[in-house]
Amino acid sequence: MGSFPRFTLGFLIVSCILYQCSAFEVDSNQTARFFVNSSEASARKIPETLFGIFFEEINHAGAGGLWAELVNNRGFEAGGQNTPSNIDPWSIIGDGSSLIVATDRSSCFDRNKIALRMEVLCDGQGTNVCPVGGVGIYNPGFWGMNIEQGKTYKVVLYVRSLQSVNISVSLTGSNGFQTLATANIIAADISTWTKAEVLLEAKETNHNARLQLTTSKKGVIWFDQVSAMPLDTYKGHGFRNDLVGMLRDLKPQFIRFPGGCFVEGEWLRNAFRWKETIGPWEERPGHFGDVWKYWTDDGLGYFEFLQLAEDLGSSPVWVFNNGISHNDQVASAIIAPFLQEILDSIEFSRGDSNSTWGSVRAAMGHPEPFHLRYVAVGNEDCGKKNYRGNYLKFYYAIKQAYPDIKIISNCDGSTRQLDHPADYYDYHIYSDASTVFSLARKFDHTSRSGPKAFVSEYAVTGKDAGTGSLLAALAEAGFLIGVERNSDVVEMASYAPLFVNANNRQWNPDAIVFNSFQLYGTPSYWMQHFFTESSGGTLFNSTLQANSSSSLVASAISWQNLEDNKNYIRIKAVNFGSNTVNLKVSIDGVEPNSFQSYGSTKKVLTSSNLMDENSFKEPNKVVPVESQLEDAGEDMEVILSPHSFTSFDLSIESPNLQMPGAGTDSVRKSSN
Ligand code: AHR
Repeated sequence: MGSFPRFTLGFLIVSCILYQCSAFEVDSNQTARFFVNSSEASARKIPETLFGIFFEEINHAGAGGLWAELVNNRGFEAGGQNTPSNIDPWSIIGDGSSLIVATDRSSCFDRNKIALRMEVLCDGQGTNVCPVGGVGIYNPGFWGMNIEQGKTYKVVLYVRSLQSVNISVSLTGSNGFQTLATANIIAADISTWTKAEVLLEAKETNHNARLQLTTSKKGVIWFDQVSAMPLDTYKGHGFRNDLVGMLRDLKPQFIRFPGGCFVEGEWLRNAFRWKETIGPWEERPGHFGDVWKYWTDDGLGYFEFLQLAEDLGSSPVWVFNNGISHNDQVASAIIAPFLQEILDSIEFSRGDSNSTWGSVRAAMGHPEPFHLRYVAVGNEDCGKKNYRGNYLKFYYAIKQAYPDIKIISNCDGSTRQLDHPADYYDYHIYSDASTVFSLARKFDHTSRSGPKAFVSEYAVTGKDAGTGSLLAALAEAGFLIGVERNSDVVEMASYAPLFVNANNRQWNPDAIVFNSFQLYGTPSYWMQHFFTESSGGTLFNSTLQANSSSSLVASAISWQNLEDNKNYIRIKAVNFGSNTVNLKVSIDGVEPNSFQSYGSTKKVLTSSNLMDENSFKEPNKVVPVESQLEDAGEDMEVILSPHSFTSFDLSIESPNLQMPGAGTDSVRKSSN
C-alpha cells in the first residue's frame, strides 16, 4: 500500500460506492455448468407411464365439476332414506297456501325409493288462484347452473299423477325472473311412473341459473330422478368439455381414481362401492361421502371413470376399498365378500361381454373391455391393523385370476423393503416448499430392486402454497426432476388434488380451479406441462456443477414430436434461489452442429413475486411463457431467472437423425 498514490485509493473507494448497485448485481449472478452425455450408452428409457393424473371426488371435483349433470340431488335421496327428509338444495316456488311438498318412499326404483310428492293447493281459477308463473320446485344445481345461449340441455324426469298434468320445465335466472328456456309436459294419463324428456335451447346466457318445475293446476304430482345435462359434453360421455380439455393438455399416461380418502370413507358404510355406481343413472342410489362431507348422485361412477381413462388415452388405476375405512375395519378372516366385489369389478372392466359382469358393461354401451392393468389395494392404510392380512388376500386372489394386473401396496418401500409382495408401492408427500424441493434427491439412494415407486400424491401444502403459488410449483418442479432422474425406480407420479370447485374448497391447493363456467390452472398445473413429453422419452446422464447447487436442479431428455416429426433434446432447470444463474450447457455425444435455432424454444414459468397465484380475474398471471431459443447448440449459455422453472427444447437438425438411445420403441411420440 505504501507506494499506492493516495488519489488512486480515493478513486477506488468512490467508484466502489458509485457502482455498488451494479457490482452487487454482477456478484449476485451465479454461474453453473450443466454437462449432458447424450451418447447411447448414457441413455435410459423413461417409463411410458411416468406422468399421469389422480382424480379424487373431493372439492366437488366430479359432482358439480367434471360430471356435467346440472341437478344436485336429482333423486331427492341426499336427505336419507327416512321420510320426511330434507330435499336440499331443492326449494319451493310458492308458499304453504299454494303447495305442500314432502318426500315419500313411492319411487319405482328399488335402490332409491325416495320420491317427491308435490300437492298443489292453488288452481288456474277459483278461490285459490295460483300466482303468475305457477308454483312448484326448483334446483339451483351446484352453486348455480351454467346455461349458455344457443346450447341445448336435455331434461329427463320421472313423473306420476292421478290427474292430468301441465308442468312447465324451465331454465331461469337465480331468482326465477329471467326465463332462459321453457317447455311443457302435458299428459292425461300418468298414473304409473312415466319418464318424460324435454330438450331446452337457451335463448340467453346465465351462469347462475336454476331448473324449475312449475304448474298452475291443482292436484298431486310425484317427481323423481330429475336430470338436466348439456347435450354438448366431451365425446358425448357426460364430461364437462372445458375441464376435460385441461386434463387432455397434460397428456396423462394414467388416471388414478376415485380417491384418496373418498375410497376409504370415515366409516365403511359410506365408502365408495362400485356396484352402486353402475347401470342406468336413474337406478343408482348415490351416497354420502363422509370424508369430504357431501352427497354424490354417482352419475360419475366406476364405468364413467373407465370411460374417461379411455377417452384420455390413459391407463386406469383403480383404487379400491380393501375393507378398511378411517374408523372401522373388516377382519382378514371375513374379507371374502369384499374380495369378491373387487374380482367382480375387474371382470366388469375386462371380462368379455358374455361374462357375468362384462355383460353389464356391454349393456351400458361398451362391449369391448376396458384396459385395466393397475389396481391399488386401499389408500393410506398401511399402518392399520388389518392391512397386511387383507392386502395379501387381495394380492393372491387378483394375481391368480389376472396375472398381468399390477398391484399397488399402500406401504412405503422407499426406506425399507416391503414385507409383502407388490408391483408398486405408493408414496405420498405433502409438505412445505423447501422440504418438497429437497426431495428431488429422495429416490437417489433407494433400492433398485423390488417393487417400483408410484408417487400417487405429491404437492406443496400450507403457507408456502397459499391457494396455488409459484413457490409451490417451483418446489414441485424440483421434486419431479428428481422423479424423472430416478425413473428407473419411480414409474408413476401424479399431483393431488386435481380439481377444486371454488365454492367448496376443502383442500388447498389444487391443480385446476373452476366454478360453473370459469376455470384456470394453478402454477402447479402449468408446471406439469413441462413434463408432458417425458413419459416414454429418453433420459440422459447429466451433471450439474454450481456453487449453490442446493437451489438448482436440472435434467435432460430427448423426445420426438409427431406433429412436426422432429426430435428434440429438452433441458429443464429449476432455479429455486433468488439469484440469476448463468448456466453453461455442454452436450456431448451429438454430431457438431446438430442443433438448429429455428424450431428451438425456451419456456419459462416465473413471476415477480414468489407467492403469486392465478385467479378467475387473472388466470394467466403465472403461466409458462414460450419464446424462440437463439443460439441453440451443443455449447450454449442460458440465463435462469431467479425463482424460475425453465425448459429448453433443442431441435435436432436432421429429422432422420437417430437419437441416441431412441430406438423405434424407445421414444414416445407426442400425438395429442
Ligand atoms: O389429496 C387429498 C387427500 O390427501 C387424499 O384423499 C388422501 O389420500 C391424502 O391424505
